[in-house]
Amino acid sequence: MGCNGDDSQDDNLTHLIVDSSHGIDGAAYGLADCGACHAINIIHETLNIRDIVADKGFATCMGCHGDNGTSELRACLICHNSIDLPHTPWQSGHFTHNFNDENSSDKDCVTCHVSSDMNGHFVPEIDLTSYPNVNGHQQVYNTISEFCLRCHNRDNPQVGFEMSEQTYNHPLIAMQDNYNFVDKHGWIDGIGTRTYNGLRSDYQYASLVECTDCHTMHGTNNKALIIDYAGKGGSKLSSDLENYPVTITDGNSAQLCVLCHQMQDIIEQGAENTGNGLTGVHAVSEDCSICHSHGETVQAGL
Ligand code: HEC
Ligand code: HEC
Ligand code: HEC
Ligand code: HEC
Ligand code: HEC
Ligand code: HEC
Ligand code: HEC
Ligand code: HEC
Repeated sequence: MGCNGDDSQDDNLTHLIVDSSHGIDGAAYGLADCGACHAINIIHETLNIRDIVADKGFATCMGCHGDNGTSELRACLICHNSIDLPHTPWQSGHFTHNFNDENSSDKDCVTCHVSSDMNGHFVPEIDLTSYPNVNGHQQVYNTISEFCLRCHNRDNPQVGFEMSEQTYNHPLIAMQDNYNFVDKHGWIDGIGTRTYNGLRSDYQYASLVECTDCHTMHGTNNKALIIDYAGKGGSKLSSDLENYPVTITDGNSAQLCVLCHQMQDIIEQGAENTGNGLTGVHAVSEDCSICHSHGETVQAGL
C-alpha cells in the first residue's frame, strides 16, 4: 500500500496507533500533515466512522491513530460532543472525573482511553488505558472496575495520580480492599434473603456491580460522581429506564438505589415514591449513608 495508492483495508488493524514503522521504511513517522499522503475520500471505505471523519477532516486523524511522534494534542471532543455524538458518552453535568481542568479536555480523555478502536463496542482491555498492577505488570482488565482500582488503592499509586494525603479509610484509596473484601456490590456475594430484598428487571443476586453502574466519569450534577440519569450507569438495566433522573441530597441516595432494587414484599415505605417516579426501597426519606457506605462492615453496607 503506498501514498494515495490503493484503498485496501487492513482488517487486522485493531490497534490503530501508528508507530515508528509508519510509511515506507518509517519515513512518515514524525510528520503532522496526514493529508500530504492520505486522501480522505479513499480511506475507511467500509466503516461506520467514514462519514464523520470526512466531515470533520484531517484534524481528527491523530485522535484515533496517535500523534505519529509529533507530540501534538489528539482531538476527541471534535467528535465526542453533545451535537455529534450526544450519548457517546453522555457528558451533561458540572462534575467530571477530569484530572485538572474544570472543563473537559482532549488530554483527560486520553488519560483513560489511550488507544480506543472506536468500533462501537466498549471492551475494557482495548478501550481503557492500561495501568500497571501492583507487580508492575500490564495485566488485562476483565472488568471496568479493575481499571478504577489500579488507581484507587493504597499500595500501588500510579505516578502522577497519587492520593496519599487521604485518611486510611477514605474510599479514594480504600476502594480496592472494600470492593474485594467488604462491599456487597463488589466480589462479596449478598445473601439475597434480606427483609427488603428484590431487584428490578433482569438482575440476579450474586452478580458483580461495576463502579460505573453508580459513578459516571463524563459528567453529572451529583457529588461524588454519582450518576444523575439511569442511562449514565446501570449497565444491566433495561434501556426503558434510561431517562429516569437521580438526585442525591444529604446522603439520601434512594433515587440511585431504587433503579436496581425493588423490594418483593412491600413494607416500611417500600411503596413510597423516591421522587423520580420509582418505588421499592425502605427508609425513603433518610440519610442512607449512615448504614450503607463503602467499607461498612457493621450495618448493611454497600
Ligand atoms: C509521507 C507520507 C505519509 C504521511 C505524511 C502520513 N502517512 Fe500514513 N501512511 C503512509 C504510507 C506510505 C502508509 C502505508 C505503509 C504502512 O503501512 O506503513 C501509511 C499507512 C498509514 C496507516 C495504516 C497503518 C497500518 O499499520 O496499516 C495509518 C492509520 C496512517 N498511515 C495514518 C496516518 C496519519 C494519522 C497521518 C498524519 C499524522 C499520516 N498517516 C501521515 C504515508 C504517510
Ligand atoms: C474515529 C476514528 C478514526 C479517525 C478519526 C481516523 N481513522 Fe483512520 N482508521 C480508523 C480505523 C478503525 C481503521 C481500521 C480500518 C480497518 O479495519 O481496516 C483506520 C484505518 C486507516 C488507514 C488504513 C486503512 C485504510 O482505510 O486505508 C489509514 C491510511 C487511515 N486510517 C488514515 C486516516 C487518516 C489520514 C485520518 C484523518 C483524516 C484518519 N485515518 C482518521 C479509525 C479512524
Ligand atoms: C477517569 C477515566 C475516564 C475519563 C477521564 C474519560 N473516560 Fe470515557 N469512559 C471511561 C469508562 C470507565 C468508560 C466505560 C463505562 C461507561 O461507559 O461509563 C467510558 C466510556 C466511554 C465511551 C463509551 C460510552 C458509551 O456510552 O458508548 C466513550 C465514547 C468515552 N468514554 C469517551 C470519552 C471522552 C471523549 C472523554 C474525554 C472527554 C472521556 N471518555 C473521558 C473512563 C473515562
Ligand atoms: C472522527 C470522529 C472521532 C474522533 C476524532 C474520536 N472518536 Fe471516539 N468514536 C467515534 C465514533 C463514531 C465512535 C463509535 C460510536 C458508535 O458507533 O457507537 C467512537 C467510539 C469511541 C469509544 C467507545 C469504544 C469503542 O470502541 O467504540 C471511546 C472510548 C472513544 N471513542 C474515545 C475517543 C477518544 C479518547 C478520542 C480522542 C483521543 C476519540 N474517541 C476520537 C468518533 C470519533
Ligand atoms: C489514572 C488514575 C485513576 C483512574 C484510572 C480512576 N481514578 Fe478516580 N480519581 C483519581 C484521582 C487522582 C482522583 C482524585 C481527585 C481528583 O483529583 O479529582 C479521583 C477521584 C475519584 C472520585 C471522587 C470524585 C469526587 O468528586 O468526589 C471518584 C468517585 C472516582 N475517582 C471514581 C473512579 C472510578 C469509578 C473509576 C473507574 C471507572 C476511576 N475513578 C478511575 C484517579 C483515578
Ligand atoms: C446498578 C444496580 C444497583 C444499584 C444502583 C444499587 N444496587 Fe445494591 N445491589 C445490586 C445487586 C445486583 C446486588 C446483589 C449483589 C450480590 O448479591 O452480590 C446488590 C446488593 C445490595 C445489598 C446486599 C444485599 C444482600 O443480600 O446482602 C445491599 C445492602 C444493597 N445492595 C444496598 C444498596 C444501596 C443502599 C444502594 C444505593 C446507595 C444500592 N444498593 C444501589 C444492584 C444495585
Ligand atoms: C438505620 C440504618 C439504615 C438506614 C438509614 C438505611 N438502611 Fe437500608 N438497610 C438497612 C439494613 C440493616 C438492611 C438489611 C436488612 C436485613 O438484613 O434484612 C438494609 C437493606 C437495604 C436494602 C436491601 C438490599 C437487599 O437486597 O437485601 C436496600 C435496597 C436498602 N437498604 C436501601 C436503603 C436506602 C435507599 C436508604 C436511604 C433512603 C436506606 N436503605 C437507609 C439499614 C438501613
Ligand atoms: C451501588 C453503587 C456504587 C458502586 C457499585 C460503587 N460506588 Fe462508590 N459510592 C457510591 C455512593 C452512594 C457513594 C457515597 C456518595 C456520597 O458521599 O454522597 C460512593 C462514594 C465513593 C467515593 C467517595 C467519593 C467522595 O468524594 O467522598 C469513591 C472514591 C468511590 N465511591 C469509588 C468507587 C469505586 C472505585 C467503585 C468500584 C470499585 C465504586 N465506588 C463502586 C455508590 C457506589
